[in-house]
Amino acid sequence: MGILDGKRVLVTGVLTDSSIAFHVARIAQQEGATVVLTGYGRLSLVERIAKRLPQPAPVLELDGTEWEDVATAVHVSAYSLKALAMAALPLMDGGGAVVGLDFDASVAWPAYDWMGVAKAGLESCARYLARDLGPRGIRVNLVAAGPLRTMAAKSIPGFATFEDVWPARAPLGWKISDPEPAARACVALLSDWFPATTGEIVHADGGVHAVGG
Ligand SMILES: NC(=O)c1ccc[n+]([C@@H]2O[C@H](COP(=O)([O-])OP(=O)(O)OC[C@H]3O[C@@H](n4cnc5c(N)ncnc54)[C@H](O)[C@@H]3O)[C@@H](O)[C@H]2O)c1
Repeated sequence: MGILDGKRVLVTGVLTDSSIAFHVARIAQQEGATVVLTGYGRLSLVERIAKRLPQPAPVLELDGTEWEDVATAVHVSAYSLKALAMAALPLMDGGGAVVGLDFDASVAWPAYDWMGVAKAGLESCARYLARDLGPRGIRVNLVAAGPLRTMAAKSIPGFATFEDVWPARAPLGWKISDPEPAARACVALLSDWFPATTGEIVHADGGVHAVGG
């Protein structure tokens, strides 16, 4: 018995087996969901990675935007959330859940003003979607993950500074190489265990957001 038994889950953002979305898909399958993946551009790569999941999963093409700048991860998260919600609507006339991945900007990252802006954009996007989709029984929530060593992280200048800072600051500790805690938070929010939770941001960051920087 899994917490996603009988559910169909559309997961965007899988690129490698270190992608947070890959682990969301893996755990979602382990919890009983039927998973469909989307890939952007390098579909054959995503199809190869999909074979590493517990069960085979089809891969759909999804281009979130042409925005190819360093903020790809920021834009992608915001867009995917919208795309995901819009794409899933027809499949969710009986209600459902949308979970997006947010940035955890609790530690002052002066060099990352664009992250703050995109974070604010993503959070207000989630709130509007929560307001508009709530009457359909659709919940929209965000997971603010701590720093994780993924392809997207490679495009963030100075990301390495978090390698030392975050584990030291996190009351629960934090492993930059372990996407499981963030992925589990996404899966839990997709389950029926948060029936009255929408427009929320769940931090999966070892507690850094609570102790600040
Ligand atoms: N790695 C971290 O430290 C961290 C922390 C918090 C939030 N996030 C967010 O998590 C999400 C997943 O990133 P990740 O860290 O797993 O890295 P990743 O590189 O594994 O995943 C990023 C994904 O975005 C996809 N993508 C890029 N441009 C796209 C477009 N135009 N349309 C559709 N998809 C596109 C890529 O194909 C890739 O699958 C991102 O939104 C990122 O902002 C990452």
